[in-house]
This record gives sequence, C-alpha cells and structure tokens, in this order.
Amino acid sequence: MKRIFLLITFLIFGLYHGISQKSIVYDLQVDGLYSPIGIDSETPTFSWKIDSEEYDVIQKHYQIFVATDAVFSEKSLVWDSGKVNSSESVYINFQGQTLEYATKYYWAVKVWTNKSSKPKQSKISSWTTGLMVGNQWKSEWIGVNNKDNRVSKTPYFTNDFVAGVKIKSANLFITSRGIYEAHINGKRVGNSYLTPGWTSYNNRIQYQAYDVQNMLCLGDNRLGVILSDGWFRNFRPNNGKSKTDYGDELSFIAELVITFEDGVKKTIINDNNWNYHFGSIQSSSIYNGEIADFNLNDPNWSKSKNKNPNSKKARFVKRYDGKLDHTRNEMIKKREVLDAKELIITPSGDKVLDFGQNLVGWVQFKSNLPKGTVVTLYHAEVLDKAGEFYTTNLRKAKQKNIFTLNGKTDQIYHPTFTFQGFRYLKVEGVDQINLDDFKAVALYSDMEFTGSLTTSNELINQLQENIQWGQRGNFLDVPTDCPQRDERLGWTGDAQAFFNTAGFNMDVKNFFDKWLIDLSYDQRSDGAVPGVVPHNNYLGLNDSKELKGTFGRTGWADAATIIPWHSYLIYGDKQTLERQYQSMVKWIDFMTQNSKNHLYIKEDHWGDWLFFSRDDDNSGRSAVTSKKLIAQAFYCYSTKLLIKSATALGYVEDANKYSKLYAKLVNAFNNEFVTKNGMLVSDSQTAYVLALKFNLLSKENIKIATERLVNNINDYGHLTTGFLGTPFLCHVLSDNGKNKEAIKLLLREEYPSWLYPVTKGATTIWERWNGIKPDGSFQYPSMNSFNHYAYGAIGEWMYNNLMGLKINQDFPGYKRFTIQPLFDENFDNISGTYNSNYGNIKVNWSRKNDTVLINISIPANSQSDVFLSKPYKGNWTFNNMKAEGSVLEKKDDTDKTYFLLGSGDYQLRLKTK
Ligand code: BGC
Repeated sequence: MKRIFLLITFLIFGLYHGISQKSIVYDLQVDGLYSPIGIDSETPTFSWKIDSEEYDVIQKHYQIFVATDAVFSEKSLVWDSGKVNSSESVYINFQGQTLEYATKYYWAVKVWTNKSSKPKQSKISSWTTGLMVGNQWKSEWIGVNNKDNRVSKTPYFTNDFVAGVKIKSANLFITSRGIYEAHINGKRVGNSYLTPGWTSYNNRIQYQAYDVQNMLCLGDNRLGVILSDGWFRNFRPNNGKSKTDYGDELSFIAELVITFEDGVKKTIINDNNWNYHFGSIQSSSIYNGEIADFNLNDPNWSKSKNKNPNSKKARFVKRYDGKLDHTRNEMIKKREVLDAKELIITPSGDKVLDFGQNLVGWVQFKSNLPKGTVVTLYHAEVLDKAGEFYTTNLRKAKQKNIFTLNGKTDQIYHPTFTFQGFRYLKVEGVDQINLDDFKAVALYSDMEFTGSLTTSNELINQLQENIQWGQRGNFLDVPTDCPQRDERLGWTGDAQAFFNTAGFNMDVKNFFDKWLIDLSYDQRSDGAVPGVVPHNNYLGLNDSKELKGTFGRTGWADAATIIPWHSYLIYGDKQTLERQYQSMVKWIDFMTQNSKNHLYIKEDHWGDWLFFSRDDDNSGRSAVTSKKLIAQAFYCYSTKLLIKSATALGYVEDANKYSKLYAKLVNAFNNEFVTKNGMLVSDSQTAYVLALKFNLLSKENIKIATERLVNNINDYGHLTTGFLGTPFLCHVLSDNGKNKEAIKLLLREEYPSWLYPVTKGATTIWERWNGIKPDGSFQYPSMNSFNHYAYGAIGEWMYNNLMGLKINQDFPGYKRFTIQPLFDENFDNISGTYNSNYGNIKVNWSRKNDTVLINISIPANSQSDVFLSKPYKGNWTFNNMKAEGSVLEKKDDTDKTYFLLGSGDYQLRLKTK
C-alpha cells in the first residue's frame, strides 16, 4: 500500500514538474543514447545530468524507476532501485526483472542533493529493447536469384502484409549484407543513411530497430527494401584484386514485430512473400559513385497488391554465421546543408561549383530540365595551381554520380548509397547553372558536439574549425584516415592519434565503443592487431604471407590499449575497459611473445609516418626516428595502460604481473636506445617526445631530453614530427615547462606547421604538412589527402592549454577536473566549452589593459581544481563576484593561485598592475 502511494506521488510529482517547470534532472540516456530503440543489453546503463542555480551541488542519493508504461503502476514496474546513497549519475546498470524483447520501457530518476532534502525529479524517458535473442532471428536472409546477382546492381524488394488492428507498438528490425534503405507504404523508414554501417562483417553485423507504428495503414501494407553493395560487396578500386571485400551476394533480414493491445507479440512478415525488381538506381559503389535513371522509378513501389510486371521471386540465401548485434552507436545522419558559394569556369571551360568547405556527403540539386537529360557530377577537394578541377589525388576512386532526369517540376536529385569527399563539384549536362539549386549535404555519425574553442587569433579559430570538419568527414560510422580516395579505412594509428581531440569535439563514446568491439573481433588469435579496423581486403583478409606484417605494427596496433584507456578517462565508464580488457592483454602478450631480451623485435612498422623529410636529403636533415625505438616506446606505453586498466578494474594480480614486465621493458629501452650521456640513439623530436611522454627516462635524462628536444626544434626552426610524434609534441613541451616553445610551434605560419595549411586556404586538416607547396603545386599526387585528421591531434593540446581544461586521472569522466589556462600574451581572449557527462564546463577569459577577467562554469555534481598562473607582474586579486564565499579551498603562492571550486558560475578578476 505504502509503495503504491509512493509511486502515485512520484508520478504526479513527475508530470507536474515535467510540464510546468524546467526539470533540473535532464539529458537522460540509456547506454549513452537518447531514448534508443533496439537495445539488446540485459543490464543497460542509465545516466543523467543535474542543473542547478545553487553552488557546490553534489548528488547525495538517487532512485531509478523502470516500468512498462508511463504511469508507473505497480503492475508495470520492473525495477525500483530504492534510494541509493551515491553521487554516481552516469552508467548505472539496470538490475531489475528480465527484460522482454521488442518492448518499450519507461524510466525516470529522483535525485537528492546536498542542497535540498526534497528530491528533484526527471521527466520520463524510455528505451525499447531489441530482439534480445542474438542469432535466433525467425526470418530468413533474402536475396536475388543467381542470375541477377551482379556487382553494383541494386535490387528493390517488396513484401505485402496485413498489419491487423489494436496495435500497441510496431518495430521493424532489419539489417543486411550490403547497405539497405527500408520503406513502408512508399515512405522511407527512419532518417539514417548507409545502414547498417560498417563492422567486422565476417564476425558481426549490427541490426537497426525502428518504431514504425505510425507508418502502418489499416489493412494492406507494403514493406520495401533497397539493397546496395556498400562496404560489404565492395571491389577495392585500388588493388585490382578480383575479390570483393567481404562477400559476393547481397542480402537482408527483416522482422516486423507487432505488439497488440492485449500484449501478444507477432512477427508479421512472411518470408515467402518477397519479390524484387530493378529500379532507378542502376549501380552504386561507395568509392565510384552512383548511376541512376529516375525514369525507372517503380510506380507500384508503395502500393500494396499492385505488382511490378518485371518483379521476380526473391530467394532465401545462406544464413549469416556471425553475430547479429544491436546498434550501440549513433547512426549516420544528414547533419548540415551547405550552399554553393561560387560558380567557377576553369581555364579549360569546366563548370565548377565551390561549396567553400571540404566536406563529406553528397550534392543534391533541384532541376526542371527535360526528361532524359543526363547530368554528371564529379567531386574534388581542390583546384590545381592553374585553377583546374583536380582529381589525381583520389587515385582510383571515381566519386562520380550520373543521373538521368525524369523531367518532373522542381525535382530534387541526389544519390543514395554512396558518399563523396569534396569541396568542388564539376557539373556536366546543365547549361544554365543556378547556384541556389545545388546544396552540399554533410553526412556523418549523429554524435553530439561537445566542445568549442574560439580565440582572438583568427588563424587558430580556422584551425579549430578545420579539425572539427576533419572529424565530421571522417566519422562516418568508422573513424577513417580519409573520406575521398580509394582508402577510406579505419586505420588504427590515425584513430589513436586523434582520439583525445575527437573526445573534446564530440561525444564519441558510443562511436568508439562500437569500433573497439570490431577491433577485438579483427584481432588475430595470437593477439596481433591489424592496421585497419574493420579489417578487409585492403590489407588482405586472408592474411597472406606478405600481409601478415601489417598486423602488430606499433603506434597502430596500440589503438587496442590507448583508446579504451582514454575513453575511460573521458567518460568514466569502466564497462568499456572491461569489454576491451582481454584484447588489451592479448596485444601486450603478443609483443612479449615477439620479444628478445624484453625488446619488441618485429621489423615492419609504419613508424613516425609522414615525418618531416627533405626531397633531396644529402646531409641527413630528414627527421628519421628508429622504428625499433618507437616500437619499444609503445610497447612500454601500452603495457603501462594495461596496468592502469587492471588497477581500475581491480585485477590486482594482473597489475602486479604486468608491473614487473613493465620495469624490464623500460630498462631494456634505456639500455638499447639511451646513450650514457642521455642522448637518444635517434636524435629526433619524435624520439624525445615519445620517451618523455611515456615517462621512460631517469630524472636526469628527462632534463637532458627536454633540452635536446628544444634545441632540435630551434635548430630546425620548426616541428619535424610525423603521425606518432605530433600528437604529443606540444604536451611534452608544456609538461616540461616549455609553454613558450609550444605556443611558438602552434603559431608558426610557414611550412611545416599547423597554420601553414590554414594560410593556404585549407578548410580541413591535410594528410601532409605540405599537401600544397608554397608555390601552389602539389606534393606526391598519389598520397595527398586534404581531409586526414591525424595532425589535427593538436586539438587536445589547445583545449588543455588555451581553454585550460584537463582530465584528472584520479577522477575519470570529469567528476573532478583541472582548469589551468595559459593566459598567453599572444591572445587577448579565449573562450572554450566542453559538455561533459555532468554538464557544460565553460572557461573564458579576456584581457583589457591591466585586467584579465575570467569566467568559469562548473556543472553540478562535479568539481574543479583551478590553477591561475600569473604571467604578468603586479597585483592579482580574486573577485568571486557572483558567488562570494563558495570557494571550497584557496591557496596563493608567488606564481599562481589555486582554488577548489564546486559547481556554479564564477567570475574572477586578475589585476596585472
Ligand atoms: C593512410 C594512413 C595510414 C597509413 C599507414 C595510409 O595510406 O592514409 O593514414 O595510417 O597508410 O601507414
């Protein structure tokens, strides 16, 4: 009785608050997603944020309720966590009754804080379970007949069904070998693109779940599915192999589960009822583009019972023996639509549109041109020195869409199963180009933006923009090296180099959780990790002898340890670590098994990829770093991260075991690569940077290495690092008291530097420091991507030092963090935000004459250690104008002031005279 009363109070309270005032418990997520559909986890996690006007707010207790209806009646309640004494508000596991498949669950949370004895109440949120049965789908895999099974052909399947009445919910569960688009009664299902995305296809494919209740009609309905090659049946354009990446036959599996009002669940689709025909999309390929004749659209596509005269019976194809997994990441969506900025007629007469931004997606255009008009669209990232449309750097990827128009009024045309990396569009077949008719649609995974950074330096702002656009373009379901040429692959080294920066810019938790699972699947049984994940024919799925070497290359394979650990630091979810733990262990054990005298002896590595080198290097000025040194440094680093992970997870024995190994590895590094006077055998920036960053040197040698590093930079006058050294270069300088040197490198505008491409008009990060040379010509046409995020890894340093926001490793997930901005004299103001799991952290400062004004916001249920250094002479006064008396701790010393701040908005004033 008491319980029912409590629940009713809860409900009334909840609805009242939900409607009439801003709830202070907000952003409810299940498994890191907002109201997801199709979650298979039996113990999904709950997270929320707290917003409050008060200072120093900490959660004291929480209580979670889960029910099968939004009324939370006792009958419908499946979990009441009880009042739990805890300040935890992220990734709390469901511990209630067994969850049923294809069922919507409602949940809400009550939160008590230290500031009020009355609980605060969230709005009601929900999630819907998936099929919960792994591989036991009842449906068959559907494909075309053997004769029609040809690469690039795009079949359109249809199936008619009667939905029935008194429907409580209807969910479509679907996935494919290839990529699919589903339609019900002529309308597209959902708003995701390139589904089901790309995973380790030989081992697992994610399925998607859609709420389709509102798409169903009374009586007859028609489900349509279009299938295309996608990543599955892709012919690698680059290596001329006659094999596709994963398979030769496209197929899909679909179940429409209807729950009726009486609770009965029914799977509606009859697999014997599938027919197919060929329609407007005649061929489609991720790399080469799409050919479509829009006159071939089937008028019966949406009308149940009307049969396409050319339709044929579909065929049951071989079942899938991998795992059908639920979707745990944000799917690819249309994110931005950009206008064409300019029509350029090139010297050779091409009509080229400039969208002003290098992006990834496709162009849609509106046209009234007559039926039968053929329009061809070519995509490129750059124009060459002479102003011509330039596609040589795409290598064998055609990036070309050919459309035959249907003559309808104001018809919008766009491709469906491909994407292109471009800024420029060459148009053939349109005499009169109207700029307004052409729009560039940016497609990428639907992650939230979490970070922003603006400064008084416009070039730095553009660099930040370029980093974020590089991330947009290369985060299409998989973190890729580049999105345009014939690679577009999940290179593990690029991903680990950029991960921390990515984690500032966007909420990449689910995106990488998903990718790491594929990494574990693609890891060889001996523990070696491949160069690309998902692994495919690019590096040889069959693992031929000569390709074996592409496994286990340091700096790349170490994504297996670096990303899970840093994901844990950013998001504080131990489940990521737990899930990847075995993969981490296997990777370290692989290196150990391939070691001699504790030195990792594998010969082949990519090393400090794309380091500074001279074309005609007669005097040894190219900044080569020994691959063996790099390999051992990463062996040590990865082992250290494994020890940290084991400690975090409470695996004491493992922590001890690997700590013993670690001591030997560091010793071996010093014996082999450090001379007795503290020089490294490769006297290069990357060598010192790795040794310092990974903490491999003795105290004395740290000093020597720092000096040698600074001298080396001064000697060259610039950075010389490649993919492995660059992410750490400025960190190492800052960590060793060399902020001025770090800023100098950051602000350098000549080649090689981060700002050089900006001065050349870049709108994304380039693969090479000198993709476009000062004279306007191109470097190495065969490997010259203009959208390659790896060097964008400087973004992390900018957030850490310009905004000043740093993770506190003892409090993962920003429960407690550090703010320590540089107040560098080259900047007049800097403003940064980061939306953590607890809410928005803001730091901005501006300097006027003798005064620096600093605003800091700390979200509820978190705290910050704030260090304000004093770069100028004079008086420094602290004036907490908004929150007198709410500082938890303060310490003043000669060169900096320290505050421990609880949540709230603070304003501080520093007087410089
Ligand atoms: C890719 C890189 C990748 C590298 C491996 C290149 O072709 O574009 O970004 O990491 O190969 O060395």
